[in-house]
Amino acid sequence: MPTPTAAPDLLPTPLDYAALPAAELVARIERRKDELSAVILGHNYQRTEIQDVSDYLGDSLGLSQEAASTTADSIVFCGVHFMAETAKVLSPGKRVLMPDLRAGCPMADFVTGTALRNLMSQHPDAVVVAYVNSTAEVKALADVCVTSSNAVGIVETIPRDTPILFVPDKNLADYVAEKTDRDNIIAWEGYCYVHDDMVLEELDRVRAAHPDAKVVVHPEARRELLEAADFVTSTSGMVSLAEEHDALIFGTERGLVDRMKQRFPGKTMIPLSGAAICGNMKLNTLAKLAWCLDHEQHEVVLPDEIRRGAARSLERMLELSGGWAAPTEEEAELEAAGLRPRGCGCA
Ligand code: 13P
Ligand code: SF4
Repeated sequence: MPTPTAAPDLLPTPLDYAALPAAELVARIERRKDELSAVILGHNYQRTEIQDVSDYLGDSLGLSQEAASTTADSIVFCGVHFMAETAKVLSPGKRVLMPDLRAGCPMADFVTGTALRNLMSQHPDAVVVAYVNSTAEVKALADVCVTSSNAVGIVETIPRDTPILFVPDKNLADYVAEKTDRDNIIAWEGYCYVHDDMVLEELDRVRAAHPDAKVVVHPEARRELLEAADFVTSTSGMVSLAEEHDALIFGTERGLVDRMKQRFPGKTMIPLSGAAICGNMKLNTLAKLAWCLDHEQHEVVLPDEIRRGAARSLERMLELSGGWAAPTEEEAELEAAGLRPRGCGCA
């Protein structure tokens, strides 16, 4: 853990930082990140200016693998609360900071520990599968966690005759049930307001305007949209598809589409819905990030018992997803010297 060192020209509030020019904020972020030996992990839905200063950009699986293997002293998480909690669970010795503690995921809040315990008591033989979009308290009760990129594969490892309680996303549960051909998945009634709000009429309209474009949809969307799509995949799966295709319609949050437009200006990259914006992800701004690094706030803390319980189900997931490779001593030295790029390199 680093010895706290005050930033030399600290300003009191995020509002004071918001008055600074973007270039100065970026310079402050870079300088302070080095002083604190911090790594910035950013989700694919972050504002493009946050994506620009992130050391690693990814989906929930990639970010949790990166959090588990980073050699940095502190992790600054630009995403939503469950993602930062996951980083803390997997890297308990590191300090995890968030620019805005209010950046939560409403889907994660659909299920509480008490409510899940109640359901578990009604199905004592069931295996509990928690989508990572859940609180650490819920993960601590689960047998295994899943993300949008490994849910089908992980559920396939569970004996077919064993019932599954799948929390909290009913749409992902439905997709997994269909893909694994199971009728014994009991789904929680939660959903993501951003993805569940997208409707077939919007897709039909965009498709009519761009008949040559392929359609990719996130598995948090409703079944009728998934059935109409050419591909169903996680946010990082979508980034890979954008590298391969010249025209794509994205059934997911706008932040990812904005980034793809910026990265591939010659390609046709279209949102399925212009309204698909996750206000929670957008609570993180460059000004709050600079404030967070200067003030070494807001730290994510977890009770030890919950942390240990959540580590069990998350590590089970990582093992079943090919695990993660901690950097070798040589790689860690190169990384510290800035000679080994961290993460996916897609920034
Ligand atoms: P990914 O793991 O696919 O990035 O999804 C996270 C999420 O919150 C989607 O809404
Ligand atoms: Fe949660 Fe939906 Fe936002 Fe993803 S897009 S963080 S699931 S509210």
